[in-house]
Amino acid sequence: GKKAFIFDLDGVIVDTAKYHYLAWRELANQLGFEFTKEQNEQLKGVSRVRSLEILLGIGNKHLDDDIKIKLLHEKNEQYLKYIAKMDHTEILPGIDDLLNYLKFEKIPFSLGSASKNARLILETLNLMGLFDSIVDGNDVSTAKPDPEVFLKAAEKLGVQPQDCIVVEDAQAGIQAANLAGMTSIGIGDKKVLSEADFVLKETSELTIGFVQNLIA
Ligand code: BG6
Ligand code: MG
Repeated sequence: GKKAFIFDLDGVIVDTAKYHYLAWRELANQLGFEFTKEQNEQLKGVSRVRSLEILLGIGNKHLDDDIKIKLLHEKNEQYLKYIAKMDHTEILPGIDDLLNYLKFEKIPFSLGSASKNARLILETLNLMGLFDSIVDGNDVSTAKPDPEVFLKAAEKLGVQPQDCIVVEDAQAGIQAANLAGMTSIGIGDKKVLSEADFVLKETSELTIGFVQNLIA
């Protein structure tokens, strides 16, 4: 069937993964514990609520639900402060060219993100109109590694899961893509993303040539 792409947002389209990390780290420090970049890999791709649970597990903190709701709000406020300062220069290398190439070739593509801020971020970057479909944290009930987000994206695009190629920077996202029966491309560390069908060190390696070979 006709091939289609599904892109994760944070850490694939735009360099926001660092802002999620900074905001979570500030929260951890405020609660009195350290939170390293290595530990942060566990939070990538997973929902905001699940991220807090993992973080509190790392800090061995047991908090009441009303406090957790407050912390989720604080983290997001902090994250949004970073987002407000962001501009198109933070679109990751090669992504703009690739999206425009896919558009030109009429190869459909969707967003498949866990973020509830996804639409805001795409608007800010002027990328919203390029996508044939958007599925984000507001549209799903189960978070990655559950395949729901990607299966919904395939359905919206009107393509079969096996014809979809997912681009992801998170281990949970690669697992979700694999569970959906899709081809997975990991962007980042080979060790973290070992379950992916292909691993590229950074988005600049996701060239038009690479994509042409893949779909040929
Ligand atoms: C994912 C990020 O894309 O979205 C996670 O990788 C983040 O780090 C998740 O927690 C939820 O994002 P948001 O913007 O709804 O808090
Ligand atoms: Mg990501």
